[in-house]
Amino acid sequence: MELKTMKIICFTVICTLYLLSFFIVPPIFEDADQYLIQYDSFKRALAEKVFGDPLTNTDAYIVNTYYYPKSKSLGENALAMVLLMNRNTMRDITKYKMQLVATNGSGDSVKVTPKILKEAYANCAYINIVAHAQGIENMNKLEIVEGETRMEIPFRSPRTSAPAPVIICISPQFVAEQWQIFVSHAHIAHVYGGHLHLYVTSILESYFDLVKEYEKLGYVTLDFWMRYKFQNSTLDSPEPNSNVEWRNQAGATTDCLLQYKEVASFITFVDLDDVLVPRGFDSYFDEFSSLYYFYPNILTFQYPKREIMLHNKPTIHDINLVEQFSHPWFGTYEDTGKIVARPIDLNSMWIHRSFYVPDKKFHVVNHNFLLHMQRPVDTNGQDPITYEMRSFAIFKNLKLNESVLEPVQRNLERVLNSTSFQKVASQLPTHAYYFPIMYRCYYEKYYKSLDNTCPNGEGCLIPQRSDFPCIHSDADYKSGPLMTPVTFHYHENPRWSKDIGCYT
Ligand SMILES: *[C@@H]1O[C@H](CO)[C@@H](O)[C@H](O)[C@H]1NC(C)=O
Ligand SMILES: *[C@@H]1O[C@H](CO)[C@@H](O)[C@H](O)[C@H]1NC(C)=O
Ligand SMILES: *[C@@H]1O[C@H](CO)[C@@H](O)[C@H](O)[C@H]1NC(C)=O
Ligand SMILES: *[C@@H]1O[C@H](CO)[C@@H](O)[C@H](O)[C@H]1NC(C)=O
Repeated sequence: MELKTMKIICFTVICTLYLLSFFIVPPIFEDADQYLIQYDSFKRALAEKVFGDPLTNTDAYIVNTYYYPKSKSLGENALAMVLLMNRNTMRDITKYKMQLVATNGSGDSVKVTPKILKEAYANCAYINIVAHAQGIENMNKLEIVEGETRMEIPFRSPRTSAPAPVIICISPQFVAEQWQIFVSHAHIAHVYGGHLHLYVTSILESYFDLVKEYEKLGYVTLDFWMRYKFQNSTLDSPEPNSNVEWRNQAGATTDCLLQYKEVASFITFVDLDDVLVPRGFDSYFDEFSSLYYFYPNILTFQYPKREIMLHNKPTIHDINLVEQFSHPWFGTYEDTGKIVARPIDLNSMWIHRSFYVPDKKFHVVNHNFLLHMQRPVDTNGQDPITYEMRSFAIFKNLKLNESVLEPVQRNLERVLNSTSFQKVASQLPTHAYYFPIMYRCYYEKYYKSLDNTCPNGEGCLIPQRSDFPCIHSDADYKSGPLMTPVTFHYHENPRWSKDIGCYT
């Protein structure tokens, strides 16, 4: 056979197969839709391989943007934006060339393309990104430009002072109910020289009022953690809240890092139920300073977590922190920990570490661990979580010295002496209602599910009760003009709302 004939036959066969698969087969199959969807994604994957990056437009959500007149690690007039981007915007999202125009009071402007850092792990459509660049002196306007289209984006200043040298960034709270855990954490942190930065999406109203009292005393800073909503939603865009890893905890750690970047000596990134008590030192500052002194090449230290047996008390006056923490009952194994860092060493952060810190600069601490208050026994003495029970044992060598917790207990008693505290404390719930519901949802949705799904608590069934009202974050949601390839969304005027309910 001649080469030409072979080519013709080959071409004909391919064309026939193509037409057959596209026009003939689908109508015959019962699940033709499924077939066409698969075919579509195959086509897109093929096009990506052959022609480069996908041509589809995507949406991005800007969480916050900061402007630093001077930053020790980001340089002068630096900009840093925390945002969620669709991972399909580019095959390698860190190659995305965002165009920013920064303008100042005298009308001077610079065009910059920020460096893109990606801090995400799970297989979710939206990933946590930091975009940072050096802008202009006294910037008063920031725009994103794509082709002929421009949109202005709001920005703010990072914090200019830290309430304590050690800032404890707490991952966002939703349907928060376990106020006893907050009380323990707030007092331990305060006595050992830490300040809590608490992100909240939703929280029981009585618990919120309690946190506000602690905020007045300077123990905690409350911050809004938003749901992601597109004012102008694009129909074919994935829903951001259910398609982001753990409700974008990495976005919260990154945002907290950027807020305190220039003013904190150390930052820890933990959950509310992971509390650290220094061992062998009188403060967090001293313990962390000693770590950095003895390991000068390490950038981030990870403290493992170990569950501690814990019984909740129905009223705040019953809480005894010496009794609660100075006993030897611990879980029989450790879990993946959380880290402490000097903010100058990091520009972005994930949940358990930063992907920009190489393994040889990452060290797991072995002299101390985080006390994990994961599954407190309820006030009636019953386990609210009766499945997947953790085994506990007596570990005399891990027990904390009572003398370490006595000042913390005295600090609690002093605070409880004030009438404003007594008033809010009397409103707190004595039993857990939402906690077992949320725990079970997480368990069913994630811990039992396949590893390649996007882990988060979206879609949890949360039965509302009028006797347990919640405060929920809210804001004005804004969408920029349709842009190619990325349309940006953001929010303004964050506020607390009593009208939304106890939802994630
Ligand atoms: C605006 O930026 C230019 C260039 O950096 C600078 O020379 C000028 O002083 C700035 N204007 C103000 C009002 O800061
Ligand atoms: C507990 O603390 C007291 C007072 O600081 C000290 O005398 C004692 O040795 C400590 N015990 C242990 C086991 O560290
Ligand atoms: C609580 O207040 C009472 C009366 O004002 C006072 O006598 C007591 O010492 C206070 N207790 C603490 C722990 O501050
Ligand atoms: C939102 O969409 C509507 C209708 O397509 C359009 O008129 C409006 O300008 C859009 N708003 C923004 C902020 O893009």
